[in-house]
Amino acid sequence: MQTFQNITAIYVREARHTDLYKISKCHKACFPNSFLAYMGLFWIRGLYSFLMSCSQDISLVAIDHSSNIVGIVSGGEKKHVNRFLKSTIKKYWYVVLFKSVICRNMRKMVIKRLILRIRKRSTRKHYHVYPNDCSCSCIDLLFIGVYPATQKKGLGTLLIRKFEKCAVDSGFDSIRLSVKKDNIAAIKFYLENGWHEVEETELTKRLEKKICIDFRKE
Ligand SMILES: CC(C)(COP(=O)(O)OP(=O)(O)OC[C@H]1O[C@@H](n2cnc3c(N)ncnc32)[C@H](O)[C@@H]1OP(=O)(O)O)[C@@H](O)C(=O)NCCC(=O)NCCS
Repeated sequence: MQTFQNITAIYVREARHTDLYKISKCHKACFPNSFLAYMGLFWIRGLYSFLMSCSQDISLVAIDHSSNIVGIVSGGEKKHVNRFLKSTIKKYWYVVLFKSVICRNMRKMVIKRLILRIRKRSTRKHYHVYPNDCSCSCIDLLFIGVYPATQKKGLGTLLIRKFEKCAVDSGFDSIRLSVKKDNIAAIKFYLENGWHEVEETELTKRLEKKICIDFRKE
């Protein structure tokens, strides 16, 4: 594996509110076909701003030599994303409806999300809960993305390692995440970085990494 030493002059630091515009652009570039990308930069900015104001959130950015944000990682409680959407529910539906009318891709995505939601509800009883839900203090990794032009150079590894270190420093024992099954590159990336699969649903894999052992020794 290439290591992050190969990317000169890139460093990782905590995200600030002044970074929000650049963060939203980076997020959109990393997840171009996601629901949030269709909702627009304003929306992504709002979400990150909300996450950054949550007490246990960890948001980091990778900065290149021209002060551009080339990578982001954010984690906290998964329910914070839903809480943000709920807090903006009125605006949210206006935007979804408006964009669905003018944008065919958005229409497709809304229908897909509705179908998924219905399917998820009807099959929920077959899913397991995370094995460590009550025994461990666990943080969710919500987003990680590296600008397409800087991918596969070790930057993702640098970001996730820093995130893991911050999570240990904040007192968490493990990190978990969901990844779409068809995101083969991301799954390979996580496995390479020491994560393991704990559950598989129809569309996603849930992965976890125990971090206390790795870092507390250092
Ligand atoms: C997943 C992601 C963050 C990885 O970042 P990255 O900087 O490219 O990762 P690294 O360079 O540190 O890669 C480390 C290892 O992961 C694996 N990997 C990373 N990208 C890969 C790809 N496109 N295809 C196959 N394996 C890949 C490789 O094993 C790689 O080691 P190698 O270069 O020696 O083969 C990046 O691809 C990305 O931003 N993807 C789009 C957003 C996304 O899907 N995020 C995850 C959502 S759950």
